[in-house]
Amino acid sequence: MIAAQLLAYYFTELKDDQLKKLQVMVTTSGMLGIGFWGPITLGEEDVACHSYKWGSTSPPTGGFTALVAMASREDRHRLEGCCKKSYELHLAWFYSPIVFSIVTHQTLKDIMGRFRRDMEYGLGRDTNPTATVKMLPTFVRSIPDGSEKGDFIALDLGGSNFRILRVKVTQDKKQPVQMESQVYETPDDIIHGSGTQYSLRTKEGLKKCMEILTRLGVEPSDEDCLAVRHVCTIVSFRSANLISATLGAILSRLKDNKGVARLRTTVGIDGSLYKMHPQYARRLHKTVRRLVPDSDVRFLLSESGSGKGAAMVTAVAYRLTDQARQIQETLAEFRLSKGQLLEVKKRMRMEIERGLKKETHKEATVKMLPTFVRSTPDGTENGDFLALDLGGTNFRVLLVKIRSGKKRTVEMHNKIYAIPIEVMQGTGEELFDHIVHCISDFLDYMGMKSARLPLGFTFSFPCHQTSLDAGILVTWTKGFRATDCEGEDVVELLREAIKRKEEFELDVVAIVNDTVGTMMTCAYEEPTCEVGLIAGTGSNACYMEELKNIEIVGGTEGRMCVNMEWGAFGDNGCLDDIRTKYDQAVDENSLNEGKQRYEKMCSGMYLGEIVRQILIDLTKRGFLFRGQISETLKTRGIFETKFLSQIESDRLALLQVRAILQQLGLDSTCDDSIIVKEVCGTVSRRAAQICGAGMAAVVDKIRENRGLDHLDITVGVDGTLYKLHPHFSRIFHQTVKELAPKCDVNFLLSEDGSGKGAALITAVGCRQRELDAQQH
Ligand code: BG6
Ligand code: GLC
Repeated sequence: MIAAQLLAYYFTELKDDQLKKLQVMVTTSGMLGIGFWGPITLGEEDVACHSYKWGSTSPPTGGFTALVAMASREDRHRLEGCCKKSYELHLAWFYSPIVFSIVTHQTLKDIMGRFRRDMEYGLGRDTNPTATVKMLPTFVRSIPDGSEKGDFIALDLGGSNFRILRVKVTQDKKQPVQMESQVYETPDDIIHGSGTQYSLRTKEGLKKCMEILTRLGVEPSDEDCLAVRHVCTIVSFRSANLISATLGAILSRLKDNKGVARLRTTVGIDGSLYKMHPQYARRLHKTVRRLVPDSDVRFLLSESGSGKGAAMVTAVAYRLTDQARQIQETLAEFRLSKGQLLEVKKRMRMEIERGLKKETHKEATVKMLPTFVRSTPDGTENGDFLALDLGGTNFRVLLVKIRSGKKRTVEMHNKIYAIPIEVMQGTGEELFDHIVHCISDFLDYMGMKSARLPLGFTFSFPCHQTSLDAGILVTWTKGFRATDCEGEDVVELLREAIKRKEEFELDVVAIVNDTVGTMMTCAYEEPTCEVGLIAGTGSNACYMEELKNIEIVGGTEGRMCVNMEWGAFGDNGCLDDIRTKYDQAVDENSLNEGKQRYEKMCSGMYLGEIVRQILIDLTKRGFLFRGQISETLKTRGIFETKFLSQIESDRLALLQVRAILQQLGLDSTCDDSIIVKEVCGTVSRRAAQICGAGMAAVVDKIRENRGLDHLDITVGVDGTLYKLHPHFSRIFHQTVKELAPKCDVNFLLSEDGSGKGAALITAVGCRQRELDAQQH
């Protein structure tokens, strides 16, 4: 202790807080197990002194040997030589175990590496309890951005003085922070001195040293003062070196975190040792820059002490709390209560009835379109079929070989083709010519151009069907807008295009919605499957309805699958109370404004757009991306379902979320990433919930149709949102369970797409045709 005081007195006549800080550093270095370093030139290298057991009277040999043993052979050589020469005097003077080793640049790099490892331990959930570098969270999540304001009281306790500050933070550019402070001295009879700087090298410095030592009750000689001077130099430089190494570790971690080739940063520094010691700052700057040469580091001395910082932390916390409140208010609209979801279910049920009834069918939004599919597969389907699958993420042409009998098999070959956007939104003729061109390529590829195969056409758009092989397109949905198709029979459009090509013949037997194809695919494996759901680019469902309820078809016996086209639910305004301004913005920017409102709230094609609209708004309000709306954020469709799914994945750390956003061209901070993740989660949760409310209405309707108290049923499901999103399916299942408690719903994922189902329907259609032909 005496020795520490001596040091403190000597090199700066430190005040009480300065001594405390010195002691803290001493302690810290003890914890690191490194010791004190001081620069004494030996050739080009820095030499360090390792010291321990201050004040001990025992001879130094034990410690010396230990340290020498730790040094490399080369270092050991130098060390021994060095000790014999220049420092014997000091060793003798102090007759305490001071020993010397060599601090090369490499040694500091080593410490830097060790400190980085210790930082990792401190950050790791499992390693933190035993870590020495604790890396304690401060919950300071953001640095000031200039928008802080308010009056704050800051208390500054722990230094030499206890200060109370009144800090006024304004947005005035000239004088953003005004402070008044009251200082309360901390009495301390140990610390003396004025804080004046004394260079150790000056005569005045030596005189002062003499004074201090005398005041301590020793009678120092000139040599003693000289020796003390050396020791102080050693101690202070070792401290600067150690701090440089740890700072270097922090900077190199920051650089890695940011993933930049060159880190540009400013280190804010305060502390009496740094401010008052004549060489400390210079040494620290130089060593840090040498240790992290790939960084541009600026050191900024804090002029106003940490009281101002504490006030700024409070101001930032205020700003963040206020922002968080406003963000939560924004997202609250998306958080639907059970009551609201039950209301969605009830309204869906009403729209289902309107779609089924003859008098209301025309103006009904949920069209409940008959499909002329009267039963699910029974295993007797047989033959080779061609299938087209248009309307999802991919356009596919497939050859499906179905074999009946004891060992039922389905063999499928398929090729994916792109539909360029200009074809999707060009003329109908161009679209169907493109489709036929792809079929032609596929038949060449399979070597089957001469066979006149029966074809099932999965066409994932609303069609008024009058038979299995006739479907009038009601309206395009999703990203399609080809002209001269709406109001036309798409089977005819396809047949005409095949004729125009004059290359092959095909027998178009069935037009099938993807929901129906999915239901059939799953029903082939699981006969209780009587509902089909698509949660993908679009959103829709189908189910086996009692024929007597489908008034526009007529008939009393049996069932028929209805393509609900539930995406249009809400087009009459019945969901307006839960639609947000962001949903409206998405609708306004879409190809079919005012249509498919429910689909626009819950399908993959639109979720990313809703997220983008919210992010734009939050950015405009200054809560995100530093208030800068980038060109990327202005780009429609940047948030595809796959990005949403990645961002929401539980396995991703924030840094990875940030990397995804950066990959999308959004330069985000970690705070931004937290907000973006929450926005995505809220939007997709609502989607899964309202989709679940729709499904609850469907299964309850089936249960009531059958006069059951309890229904067991399987729903066949397909779609990228359902398959790829980490939480959608879970929340969806949960909602169905909650809103339709009398139904036990089993969800079966379609593995083969709806092409297989379309082929099965085609097989049934072919058999029916043969039967009809035999009867006539
Ligand atoms: C596929 C079907 O399995 O699911 C498609 O074969 C359908 O026809 C699709 O449209 C839905 O998923 P998405 O996400 O591609 O729209
Ligand atoms: C759109 C279509 C519908 C299809 C759904 C899923 O809502 O209108 O027919 O089933 O997308 O692809």
